Amino acid sequence: MKFGYFDDAVKEYVITAPKTPLPWINYLGNENFFSLVSNTCGGYSFYKDAKLLRLTRYRYNNVPADNNGKYYYINDGQGIWNPGWQPTKTDLDFYECRHGMGYSRFTGKKRGLRAEVLAFVPMGDNCEINRVTLTNETGETKDFKLYSYVEWCLWNADDDMKNFQRLLSCGEVEVKGSAIYHKTEYRERRNHYAFFSVNREIDGFDTIRDDFLGAYNNNDYPESVVMQTSNNTLASGWSPIASHRLDITLKPGESTSLIFVLGYIENPVEDKWESYGVINKKPAEAMQERYKTDEDVEKAYARLKKYWSDLLSIYHVESKNEKVNRMVNIWNQYQCMVTFNMSRSASYYESGIGRGMGFRDSCQDLLGFVHLIPDRARERIIDIASTQFEDGRAYHQYQPLTKKGNSDIGSGFNDDPLWLIAGTSAYVRETGDTTILSELVPFDNDESKATPLMDHLKRSFDFTATHKGPHGLPLIGRADWNDCLNLNCFSEHPGESFQTFGPSEGPVAESVFIGGMFVKYGKEYADLCELLGDKKEAERAHAEVEIMEKAVLKEGWDGEWFVRAYDANGHKVGSKECEEGQIYIEPQGFCVMAGIGVEEGKAEKALDSVKERLDTKYGVMILQPAYTRYHLELGEVSSYPPGYKENAGIFCHNNPWVSIAETVLGRGDRAFEIYKKTCPAYVEDISEIHRTEPYVYSQMVAGRDARFHGEAKNSWLTGTAAWTFVNISQYILGIYPTHKGLSVDPCIPEGFGNFKVSRKFRDAVYNISVETNGAQKGVKELLVDGCRTEGNVIPFEAGKREYNVTVIMG
Ligand code: BGC
Ligand code: NOJ
Repeated sequence: MKFGYFDDAVKEYVITAPKTPLPWINYLGNENFFSLVSNTCGGYSFYKDAKLLRLTRYRYNNVPADNNGKYYYINDGQGIWNPGWQPTKTDLDFYECRHGMGYSRFTGKKRGLRAEVLAFVPMGDNCEINRVTLTNETGETKDFKLYSYVEWCLWNADDDMKNFQRLLSCGEVEVKGSAIYHKTEYRERRNHYAFFSVNREIDGFDTIRDDFLGAYNNNDYPESVVMQTSNNTLASGWSPIASHRLDITLKPGESTSLIFVLGYIENPVEDKWESYGVINKKPAEAMQERYKTDEDVEKAYARLKKYWSDLLSIYHVESKNEKVNRMVNIWNQYQCMVTFNMSRSASYYESGIGRGMGFRDSCQDLLGFVHLIPDRARERIIDIASTQFEDGRAYHQYQPLTKKGNSDIGSGFNDDPLWLIAGTSAYVRETGDTTILSELVPFDNDESKATPLMDHLKRSFDFTATHKGPHGLPLIGRADWNDCLNLNCFSEHPGESFQTFGPSEGPVAESVFIGGMFVKYGKEYADLCELLGDKKEAERAHAEVEIMEKAVLKEGWDGEWFVRAYDANGHKVGSKECEEGQIYIEPQGFCVMAGIGVEEGKAEKALDSVKERLDTKYGVMILQPAYTRYHLELGEVSSYPPGYKENAGIFCHNNPWVSIAETVLGRGDRAFEIYKKTCPAYVEDISEIHRTEPYVYSQMVAGRDARFHGEAKNSWLTGTAAWTFVNISQYILGIYPTHKGLSVDPCIPEGFGNFKVSRKFRDAVYNISVETNGAQKGVKELLVDGCRTEGNVIPFEAGKREYNVTVIMG
């Protein structure tokens, strides 16, 4: 069952029924000001950091669902309703929500009045624009009242939910003209405020939540709206809000528009006040002035649209497969931008107060984003590397506003350091910019301890090379990529954090997965050394990689697949010897991606075992058999009920690893089959089962052991986005950036047909046309501007701006 449809021509998903199985959201904002917006106008806004600078309040896990947003209410004398259906939930005569690239449009119609809301964050500005267009589609004059409504968050979203004894006395506002200013804590250490304005004279306002809603009312029945009044009172303490009232008359056929701006302003300390206790509103007024007219809004909207169509033209495929085109050209890349911006901080499942930016998460998010805006990727790499410790370890997370490592969680996730190599290597392969490697980067944000980035990578590499256990495999520390495989934790009491309980290091527990990573990224590290002319270091790296590869093949092989780990007692995890959890997906995917066991036939065996034991119609499960009881020696992985999350869920993130691994073996059919299973566009038809948005990936789909097999959770903020884009663009369609140039080596399913890719790479455009000849893999001929070329890499020619490439497979 579907709740809408893709409108690819305008790059939108169109939701036609407001009651989607879960809120289906979109992200507004690309730089510093962000909003989450659901298909019924729920959501919230923040500046840079969803924890520290939250602008509006949202109530997670609330009843009814998806409560609080930026709402517009209409009272036409016969009843109250919202163009986005919530929160009144009045039946609409027509409802539509169009989620597009950085904007959402809502249309609601009731009794002949059409209300359209266009919401977006303009490029280069710290505000959200809501243009509300009202049209009288009847033959009679219409008189009605329009109310806006946002509830302010008192900045620190964590405190806002906890520290009531203080904060309920702190709220302060000002009203000037049609703008309502939120200035809580501005009197002391904050130099920022927010405002909500409209470009027309208002007929009334409310800033006291309980006045507007009425005590004990929900926001589906606000007293002011119902009574058609406003209180015109100024909040002092409690919960300040901003609501405008506009009394509107529309003749038959007449239309009018109102431009609301929700803005964030920072003032210099010395210029905070206009007069005693009155905030300096000049920058806010200038911002309001910038979006005063429909033309202003149209211009800003057109700029946003152009920005996105330029970005998405960097990688563009044309194949006969509509779903692949749609995901590659639009939604997958769009999600990569969102994960790059948000890491795992703010979604409808990540509260924005929890995890900030993840070290490994952000490094991986880069992989799917670096081709879009390499400069931002560069900056991000430096930020991440700045939180590394001198011995190569890394803070597991950092806060986006301060960019400082988060000491609550600390370090000890032993895969983290290697992801820095992965991200940096991807950046250098994409851009050819080796200057980043000599950039001076501090350790633990201490500028006095800055060394070139390349030295950070060396320390990442050496950290793994020098932290090995009894089998010569990398020590796992608190956990590796699988945060829930806590082999040194041994937690016995509820509430102890699996992530931080117990020692961060253990001398025995080892990870085969990190072994696979070391082989893959160790080689990429060696390539970077080579690029800098450091042959000796490259050789040393290759030698270390070889040692690891041997250890993985010897100690990490279980007969039919790769072992997952060794626990703190030296027992195998993810082996046929285990009572449950006999096979895990991660080492199968990663070891094969790294090329381990390909020659020996072990890679093929491992992937066949994956198919036999982990496959389902909704995707590949992370492990089998599921853990049916709590295993003290394994930690969180066994804490989940069977089939959910890391305990035998279909953890989407590592499905592309296995798909990529299949391309390494040249099995295009199977690679694509795996791609399709979790691909949103392919599961759109079963939205009632899948439940999350059909245009983006979710972190997890419930596995075979779960009661709700096939149901997805935690949409949007998942490394699946980046890894899937890497998979489809670089391995299946096969356009892979190398240090020497773009290489072309597709691995496609039978019957995929010929396809074309246009790819901007460094300073040139590559128009690549692939003739597949019924082959799944193998390039028979590579023609660059008509000339036959050896190998798979399109050679660089300095100054050349366009390459026309024909690839003949066979
Ligand atoms: C989740 C993981 C997550 C970890 C860190 C666990 O509860 O299952 O997916 O990475 O928490 O926050
Ligand atoms: C989600 C976390 O964000 C990510 O870092 C981790 O790798 C996966 N869960 C698997 O546990």
